[in-house]
Amino acid sequence: MQSEAFILAIESSCDDTSAAIIYGNKILANVTASQKIHEQYGGVVPELASRDHQKNIIPVVDAAIKKADVKLSQIEAVAFTQGPGLMGSLLVGASVAKSLALALNVPLIAVNHMQAHILAHFIKDEETQEFPAFPFICLTISGGHTQLVKVNAPLDFELLGETTDDAVGEAFDKAAKLLGLGYPGGPQIDKLAKGGNPHAYNFSESKVEGFDFSFSGIKTSFLYFIQNNLQKDPDFVKRNLADICASYQRHLVHVLMKKFEKAILETGIKDIALAGGVAANSEVRTQMQSLGKQHGCRVFIPKFEYCTDNAAMIAIAASYKFSERDFCSMDIVPEVKMKVG
Ligand code: KG4
Ligand code: ZN
Repeated sequence: MQSEAFILAIESSCDDTSAAIIYGNKILANVTASQKIHEQYGGVVPELASRDHQKNIIPVVDAAIKKADVKLSQIEAVAFTQGPGLMGSLLVGASVAKSLALALNVPLIAVNHMQAHILAHFIKDEETQEFPAFPFICLTISGGHTQLVKVNAPLDFELLGETTDDAVGEAFDKAAKLLGLGYPGGPQIDKLAKGGNPHAYNFSESKVEGFDFSFSGIKTSFLYFIQNNLQKDPDFVKRNLADICASYQRHLVHVLMKKFEKAILETGIKDIALAGGVAANSEVRTQMQSLGKQHGCRVFIPKFEYCTDNAAMIAIAASYKFSERDFCSMDIVPEVKMKVG
């Protein structure tokens, strides 16, 4: 169960500074400052990310408290992302959370970012909202992760499989960079794909055992495909951009769905879910719905603002931990790598 307590949560694992206030399973505020500085570098620059967190964090926390219309004295716990993430970025959130917990004399709660992405499904926004039933399977897809997780209970996670190299979000972003699109490239490929033929081109498929994924081979085959075609026709990308995006996107999503289908068949679980920034992709959403239909599954996809990195998901995870009295001590340190379960 989630707890009936006001909790302040902070997320700072990568390039978004976010603060949220939760009461039970209802979000009272979720304020995020997205860092634009990385766009010019075509990827997140860790040193710059930490500095931007340092600049943004107090105004963001302040804005969340004002928006939720709560007093600092009402806050009953402070939560933060312990990891996985960039060390410099995590340290900013952890330090501010510790200072606040100390000043307010309330417990501190450390949250696993990957667990939080999944628990975002339990944020209540609508009266008639349905929630996944346990156990369910969740595919967490983002710029840093690709994981297939069996969720047995709110705080009981079992990793079925994950990427052995690049995350699927990276496969989108790196291809977009090659095509001369901006950063992050995933949303741009998604947009351009809408006007293209998804069957125009085929890409190689990596063979990976079990429920694991691999995207680095696909990325390399995409690079050679572009280079070879540009040698024959310097305008190849310009003239076929929509078809390239649609075909590449279909291929990446097909790889994800194949493993998801294997998990449905082998576990017999009928509630299936998506999490992470790539869950915003329209092809992922379409193929997920048809997978659900085909196997008689209920499909759960969180609201967009709870898919990309945000503190609301840290807050809901903290709400479960609060009811278990799962607090941490002040000497806790962030972890760059953390397993989901
Ligand atoms: O979860 P997230 O906000 O941050 C990480 O923890 O990584 O995910 C960001 C990733 C980026 O790789 C971005 O390109 C991708 O999500 N993304 C998309 C779409 N929207 C965001 N990828 C494909 N299609 C989209 N519509
Ligand atoms: Zn994330």
